[in-house]
Amino acid sequence: MRKRYEEALNRAAEKLRRTAEDARAAGIIPYQSAEGHWIASPYDGNSWWTGGFWPGLMWQLWRWTEDPFFREEARRVGGLLTEEFRTFRKLNHDVGFMYLLSSGADAKLTGNEQAETDTLHAASLLMGRMNPKGFIRAWNEPDRAGFAIIDCMMNLALLYRASRDTGDPRFRETARVHAETTLREFLREDGSVSHIVEFDPETGARVREHPGQGYALGSQWSRGQAWGLYGFTLAARHLEEPRFLEAAERIAGNFVRHIRPDGLTDCDFCQPAGEERIDNLAGAIAASGLLALGEATGKDAWREAALRLTDGLLEHCADWGGERCGILTHCTASYHEDGAGRHTNIIYGDYFLVETLMKLCGRDADLWN
Ligand code: GLY
Repeated sequence: MRKRYEEALNRAAEKLRRTAEDARAAGIIPYQSAEGHWIASPYDGNSWWTGGFWPGLMWQLWRWTEDPFFREEARRVGGLLTEEFRTFRKLNHDVGFMYLLSSGADAKLTGNEQAETDTLHAASLLMGRMNPKGFIRAWNEPDRAGFAIIDCMMNLALLYRASRDTGDPRFRETARVHAETTLREFLREDGSVSHIVEFDPETGARVREHPGQGYALGSQWSRGQAWGLYGFTLAARHLEEPRFLEAAERIAGNFVRHIRPDGLTDCDFCQPAGEERIDNLAGAIAASGLLALGEATGKDAWREAALRLTDGLLEHCADWGGERCGILTHCTASYHEDGAGRHTNIIYGDYFLVETLMKLCGRDADLWN
């Protein structure tokens, strides 16, 4: 079994070593593979929330292969991301995704002191987004001052780490307040989670839910379910709060009930029957989250579900050939908006697939810790 995952990692390293030359020559942060080339994100330049996944992928592969090319490529993009501190206005709660996997990884894996400073800088930006009424503000538009989103549960990892590295509890306690609000306001009876909840930014009162990237209001956007599953698992680990682990298990139970027979994941668990809209991003994130949950609870069922997802992805949706620059196919950014990609190869699908494989081979860089 493990041999299969080792082989997949070797193939990933070989393919991405080759296609990374394309990204480096173009000077971009890869977002998506199109017509045989890596292309940058269509939105917000180098401040787009996915910028950390390419360096995260390079750091994981550096760990797997020890080929210095991957470290240098990770640092090339890490440099582009720290330049975005000066732009600042486009950065949002996703500084967790962006800097944990770039400067955070560099500091963790090599002891690079400037990278540690950059990671703490990012953590301060995230903490500064806390509305004292009880939630971390997701985005910057003036009419979205009260928006909080489930994805942020992953970004909290930057705060846990900053408290550990500095000995200052403010970061961790900020994360705790946001996680408690998310538990109270996002988790539904059936174990699913909302994508976006809007609060009154002056009072903190709940205003309404928004459908976000899912199929409809009240539906179950699968990637949101995956962020919740993994994010509450991390919260339980760092905040040592059993309610967060219970939440992670409820979300996981709902997710696992919806895995397709072929091991792939629909874009929304409430999408119309017969609608073929897959989001393998969700499957890859959930696979890694379920491995973390299995470890946290000691329950084999979560690991077995992670293997079902991983095997489904490898069997049906891994492109080892030359058609695409990346690996994982059938990634869908949003149910209704195709601008950021539908049924295509998107960088964080490759990141979470490789992270999952690294866990299964006992070599994960543990970048959320
Ligand atoms: N965090 C944004 C997304 O999952 O699309």
